Amino acid sequence: MLDAAPAATDYALLGAGMTGGYGAADILHDCTIGTKPGEIAVIVGPNGAGKSTAMKAVFGMLPLRGGIVTLNGKDITALSPQARVAEGMAFVPQVNNVFRALSVEENLEMGAFLRRDDVRPTISQVYDLFPVLGDKRRQPAGELSGGQRQQVAVGRALMTQPSVLMLDEPTAGVSPIVMDELFDRIIEVARTGISVLMVEQNARQALEIADRGYVLVQGRNRHTDTGSALLADPDVRRSFLGG
Ligand SMILES: Nc1ncnc2c1ncn2[C@@H]1O[C@H](COP(=O)(O)OP(=O)(O)O)[C@@H](O)[C@H]1O
Ligand SMILES: [Mg+2]
Repeated sequence: MLDAAPAATDYALLGAGMTGGYGAADILHDCTIGTKPGEIAVIVGPNGAGKSTAMKAVFGMLPLRGGIVTLNGKDITALSPQARVAEGMAFVPQVNNVFRALSVEENLEMGAFLRRDDVRPTISQVYDLFPVLGDKRRQPAGELSGGQRQQVAVGRALMTQPSVLMLDEPTAGVSPIVMDELFDRIIEVARTGISVLMVEQNARQALEIADRGYVLVQGRNRHTDTGSALLADPDVRRSFLGG
């Protein structure tokens, strides 16, 4: 088991001991997720386990009754999502993550709304990472394939030049080939020094690229370890990876 007591200063982003929910009943129970500098951390677990809720909590979209969220060791628990973006966090939510009526390039420009400097170089970087978006820059995002729309969503998130990128099921609904592609691009993003915290349904494939993995069940941490250790763990394999 990794990090029985995680030290905030070791993490680019850490939600530690988070407890809370949407109303009277708690969904998260002493839940901890995070990513260290330059890492890819992956959160897996059954449907309804609280993965998206944990991501929302880390991004400041859920009131917490307990726990703390830190960014580069600094307590940001009280900050609004907007303030977290200004501090270097970017979040690609599970649904409604692009403006379908806007062109690809307009989506990227919207992603940079907080910036006052020249955003052109960052748009070029996004087109270098996802060349198809450059080809389709004038097309409405709603006309793109599912995989291309996910590229727009990731590209939009990169427009704030974040230090931490949070992705909730970036490969939902795409083919295995497109999934592999997208994972390769996410590895490339992490290599530039951006720390990644990602929820994935494709647990096995995601853990293969994960430095750190979290298995959540019913709002609680069930397993935490390196991606490779989780892939080798018979209990994880049997219960969460289909044997
Ligand atoms: N906006 C919401 N209001 C109330 N309950 C919610 C809301 N979103 C999710 N839930 C509940 O929280 C639990 C965890 O959901 P979620 O975090 O979406 O799980 P996962 O992402 O792991 O599939 C589920 O029981 C779900 O019904
Ligand atoms: Mg979810």
